[in-house]
Order: sequence, then C-alpha cells, then structure tokens
Amino acid sequence: MKIANENQDKERPLCVNLTNTPLPPCTIVIFGASGDLTARKLIPALFHLFCNDGLPQQVAIVGCARTVLDDHGFRKKMQESVQPESAAKWAAFATHLYYRQITYDSTAKFEELRPSLHQIDIQHQTGGNRIFYLATPPTLHPIVAAMIGKAGLATEQNHHNGWARIVVEKPFGSNLKTAMELDATLHEHFTEQQIFRIDHYLAKETVQNILMLRFANAIFEPLWNRNYIDYVGIVASEKLGVEHRAGFYEQTGVLRDMFQNHMQQLLALTAMEAPSLFEADRVRDEKIKVFRSLKPFDRENSGDNLILGQYRAGSIDGGNVVGYRDENGVNPDSLTPTFAMMRVFVDNWRWRHVPFYMVSGKRLPRKETKIIIQFKEVPHSMFSSLLDERIDTNRLTLGIYPVDEIKLTFQTKTPGPSICLQPATLDFKYQQLANTPTLDAYEKVLLDCMMGDQTLFWRQDGVEQCWKFLNPVLDECEICEGQAGKLHPYGAGTWGPEAAQKWMRLLVD
Ligand code: BG6
Repeated sequence: MKIANENQDKERPLCVNLTNTPLPPCTIVIFGASGDLTARKLIPALFHLFCNDGLPQQVAIVGCARTVLDDHGFRKKMQESVQPESAAKWAAFATHLYYRQITYDSTAKFEELRPSLHQIDIQHQTGGNRIFYLATPPTLHPIVAAMIGKAGLATEQNHHNGWARIVVEKPFGSNLKTAMELDATLHEHFTEQQIFRIDHYLAKETVQNILMLRFANAIFEPLWNRNYIDYVGIVASEKLGVEHRAGFYEQTGVLRDMFQNHMQQLLALTAMEAPSLFEADRVRDEKIKVFRSLKPFDRENSGDNLILGQYRAGSIDGGNVVGYRDENGVNPDSLTPTFAMMRVFVDNWRWRHVPFYMVSGKRLPRKETKIIIQFKEVPHSMFSSLLDERIDTNRLTLGIYPVDEIKLTFQTKTPGPSICLQPATLDFKYQQLANTPTLDAYEKVLLDCMMGDQTLFWRQDGVEQCWKFLNPVLDECEICEGQAGKLHPYGAGTWGPEAAQKWMRLLVD
C-alpha cells in the first residue's frame, strides 16, 4: 500500500490507495444463503461492487443453504431482493452466482461440495482462493466451521495452492464459555490469520473516521480526558422492531445483539490511546486495553448502571405497531430486553470517573447512531453576574447515522447591544467530501477480507474481554431475582422506559 502524498494540492485527499491495489481472484462461499443477511446485505454489496468494477474479474459466489434450489432459482431469488436497475448488469453478475444445497451436519454433503468448488475454481480461474462466509444462525457457526475443516476445505496452500479464509458474523458465542468453545473449534481447522470476525460497524466510514479525527489532528487529544470531558454518550437507536428475526432475537436480546459488539467497539475507539502505527494488531492491542480497563459491573448497585426495557404496542410515524410480545415468533411471556441503557466507567488515568452512557433500543422514535463528547463547564464564568442561567457547555457530536457528520457546539454573542450568549455550531458533513463513492460497510468488510486485512475485524482476545465484562450484566438481566421487575416496559415510539429518562435527556435532542 502506498501513501499518495506527492500532491501539493491541499484539497486533494492524502490517502492509502486501496482501490488501486489489485484484488486477488477468489470464490466466496456463503453458508446461510437462503437467509436474511445474504439477501439484504451480502448479495447487494457484492452486486454494487461488481457494478463499480470493485470485484476481481475472476470471482465466483456460491450460496449454500438447506433450502432446495438450483443455480437458476438462487439467481432469481437474489435478483428479487436486489431489484437491480440494469437487467444487463444483473445478467452479467448472475453468471458468477451458484447454489449448492447443503445439510449443515452432513459430512457427505461437505464432501460433495469439495469437487464442486474445485470445478467452479477452474471455470472462473479463482486459483483455489476461497472465503467461507458464515451467514448462518450463530448456533450453526461451530458446526459449519468444523465441517469445512473436516472436508479438507480449510487448509491453506491446499492442492490448488490457494488460500482459505473464514468469516464469522457476530454474536461470537452467547457468553464467554460458548465464545471460547467456538474459538477452539475455529482454531482446530483455521489459523488466526484465516479467521475474520465481522462487526460491520467497524467498516462504517464515520466509525473509521473516529481514529482520523482523534489521531490525525492535534487539537482534540489534549482535551480528550477526564479534565475536560464531563461524560460520553454512545447512542444507537432504531425505529424498527424485530421484524422477521424473532427466533434470533429471542436468543440474543439487545445486550448480545448490540452491546457485546457494536457498542463496545464504539466505546473502544472513543476511549483508546493512540496506537503507534495504523496496523491491525497495534490498533487491536489498544482496544483490548480499554476492554480490560472497564470497571466491572456492580450488581449490588445495578439500578444506577443498567436499565433494561421491552417495547409495548405504540405508534411509529403515525402508524400503530404491536408490542414485542405480540410479534410473530416471540414468546408471549418473553423477558428478552429490546432496550438497554448502561453506564460504564473506563478505570484508567485518562477516564477515571467519566461516565460513558451507552444506549440502544428497538422501536424508538428514530434511527440514530452517534457519539457525544460532552465537555465540562468553564472553570470560572465571568458572565455569572450578567446572566442568571447556566451556560450550555461545549458538545462534540460524531454523527454516524442518519448524517455522517462532526458537529461542535460553542457559545457566541448574539449580535446587538445587549450581552446575550447563544449556542452556535460548526458542522462538517462527511458527504461534502464524497467525490468518490463511499463503500457500504458490507462492501468494505468483503473487500478487506479478500485483501486479507484484519484491521477492522475482532480479535479473539477482544471478544473474550467483552464477554468477561458483559457476563455479569447478562446474569443481572437473565438469572437475577425478580427478573421480570427489572424489565421496564416502554411504548413503541417513545425514548425508552421512564426509569431511563434522566439519562436519555442527556443524550437525545
Ligand atoms: C445488527 C443487529 O448487527 O445491527 C441488528 O443484529 C441491528 O439488530 C443492526 O438492527 C443495526 O445496524 P445498522 O448498520 O443499521 O446501524
């Protein structure tokens, strides 16, 4: 990779030019190909890359699932979900798509897959390079990984001289124990360099931009600590309910679905120290230090640090929606949380006593993902004798969705003869820079996986540290006394349970 810095033009970006690095040929084998993730994220991402010449020419995509389908049926099904504007482009893309019916626990089926993939390798000249993408329900991850290994498909430098990589979707296990078991199974067949643990939040442009903002600018870091920051807010609110994912969500709930991964990554990027180099392991080493520094969850005083909720019927965008327990496939007595507010502390020199409020929930009034850095008051206000109100403190907002933006609020004088202060904002929208197409998160992770770059993927020690922190929280949620009483109802379309409002007021406008 080269840094393109020969330009003298200040407007031009200084960049690591990934797009000019040739992508290796490969076959992408997707397990769980009849599922939601394949139809909604993976195939659209691959098609979009294909349309923008972002895939290698020698590429094949093989869907594998239990559903009985043939190549033609799979292409048709995928076309229906992608709804391509150009039929010609789709027809060209579809020549790279295949389908192989599989039974996940059948050695014979995986044995059959091997010659079939070999055939496809030859046809598309993919050199035996393969990515095995587990888009299956999490309980199947260890089974499929073991079957790939037993069928001899996991071996690097196999007889076609290609590489093999495995991509695992979160959640990685359902607690520390199962995460370690999954890892042991993966490592029976794959080396760490072959394992890509996906968290699509890390591939979002503005999430990556947190590191640039913090560590490529001199002005923020001196303030980025307990001396100047009052609190940090990390918000990922969603308008959608569980939709057709009840089976998955009943097992996961908001803590495993959002906190064990996306929220903790946002926390780590906000709180970590500067790595010495922008390199996969050095970045991940710094994140681990944050996870290790998390103050253990105090179950004795859990009410101050954890608020759980579950949505009831309500109204979203003027339309009535049912409560969680009335969703298709949900247990009518379910105690699965769909909302959580956690207050956590990073117990180190930089962050001691600074609360990090993390909130995520389904069926909230709007979809919004952001990080708030709330600064402290000025040490002494010379305006206190003139103004009777408290002056709003500075806030830096890193918007991730719906607008990729960086927003800084500060006080100005209202024009005119009297002394009045008024908050103003400096607002940078990421789109202003978008003279090149930005990559969707799944496009980015697929490309990184083809390039073998693990920077934006989880490392197992990080996964385990996060589970270690979260396990007592899950116990508080799942096996505590008076479990039902700890799950607060909230109406769909509201900002969560009443008990969370004093914190929510700090975080939502
Ligand atoms: C997924 C969760 O990982 O992230 C979903 O499983 C959630 O429940 C989604 O809706 C949110 O992702 P994004 O990119 O839409 O913020």
